[in-house]
Amino acid sequence: MKEDTRKIGEDYNDAGPEVSDLDHPKIHKGLVGLYVDESLITYIDGINGKLYYRGYPVKELCENSTFEEVAYLLIYGKLPSNSEFNAFKDLLIKERNIPDNIISILKSFPRNTTRIELLRTAISALSLYDPDDYDYTEPANIRKGLRIVAKMPTLLAFAHRIQTNLPLVEPSEDLSHSANYYYMMTGNKPSKDFEEAYDDVLICHADHSINSSTFSCRVTVSTLSDIYSGITSAIGTLRGPLHGGANEAVMKYMVNEIKRKERVIPWAEKKLARKEKIMGFGHRVYKTWDPRAVILRDIAMNFFKKAQNGELIDKIPNNGHNIHDEVDYIVEMTEILNDYMIKTKQIYPNVDLFSAGLLHTLGIPTASFTPLFAASRSAGWVAHAIEQLKDNKLIRPRLRYIGKLDKKYAKIEER
Ligand code: ACO
Repeated sequence: MKEDTRKIGEDYNDAGPEVSDLDHPKIHKGLVGLYVDESLITYIDGINGKLYYRGYPVKELCENSTFEEVAYLLIYGKLPSNSEFNAFKDLLIKERNIPDNIISILKSFPRNTTRIELLRTAISALSLYDPDDYDYTEPANIRKGLRIVAKMPTLLAFAHRIQTNLPLVEPSEDLSHSANYYYMMTGNKPSKDFEEAYDDVLICHADHSINSSTFSCRVTVSTLSDIYSGITSAIGTLRGPLHGGANEAVMKYMVNEIKRKERVIPWAEKKLARKEKIMGFGHRVYKTWDPRAVILRDIAMNFFKKAQNGELIDKIPNNGHNIHDEVDYIVEMTEILNDYMIKTKQIYPNVDLFSAGLLHTLGIPTASFTPLFAASRSAGWVAHAIEQLKDNKLIRPRLRYIGKLDKKYAKIEER
């Protein structure tokens, strides 16, 4: 072994003195810009603001496809034939129900628990009821993954209705994935325009390459743990406001802090002067418009116009407007904030800025925004878990230890 000549406390790495070539390793804090593997799932062009699932532009998928088809595409790597698609849809419908024991668990949680915590716990518990538990082959992983995708809306809708003392709405066998999700959550079957908008929200969130939650999922399965553990890790990671929790954070500052159009800019000025982040803006990869934000913004504007014309009155009780009279339309305030941020800071909006206003306009409760993101992203997580396991390498980076070594241990009574 090479003699270690460093002084205590100087530039140690955690492999010990023999790995002297790592004495001054380059630190990639936040893993910014690092490629950790190759993938065939999603391509993000962060400079030109483009996003592709399995090579297909997401905009085109939103215009022509459905969430079910996109889930198939992500998981199997190709668009389905007619018969494959029908069989896939039937399977998702068949798997919508959740075991009674899981419903009892959901009912037993404290009423102030966030929906995303409920989901994280329920998905973890659900693994115990999966008939393929302990079968770690790829076909079993796909079966488990599809059950997760199929059951997530039911878990979330049930969680929401239990938490708000509403009767459960059983899954329908006649509705699409998104229409059924909307129906179980709100108790109303959506009109075609609502269903399409909701479907587009799900498609836009279905995958995003190796974002933080997907990374968590891949790390977990890379230890040869199971896919439920991978998804549970991912949900826990998605929850944070720097990631999937941003859509709820946007709604909260709009409703609780800004409230009025004329207050948007003074509010933003204050936040920025205090060097605080404004949720719904900025992205690790996009240096321009997030293409998902562009898609959802257009849809949100359409619904906003309908709300202004009174066209949503019979569809949702609040006509797309906030329940409190003292709050202006979220979509309008979002536009003002967006213009201000781009003009003054050159910081572009991300998907969460516009999904917040759109989901609110569609009558989705704020507490269900981040879980809805999770339900959509479950398709991507499953695809990534399967891809990771196809050519697995344990994901295990290094940390450069910078503390002292060989400290003298003092017994507790001597400290
Ligand atoms: N508000 C104000 N300033 C911002 C914002 C923001 N939302 N985002 C970035 N900036 C500024 C930073 O203050 C920093 O400025 P500085 O160089 O003067 O210090 C600069 O832009 C770079 O920001 P970083 O945080 O270093 O960039 P990073 O790539 O690490 O962060 C992130 C990306 C975490 C998304 C960040 O933009 C952020 O915190 N945004 C708000 C949270 C959010 O909306 N998250 C959702 C992301 S999309 C998703 O997960 C679906």
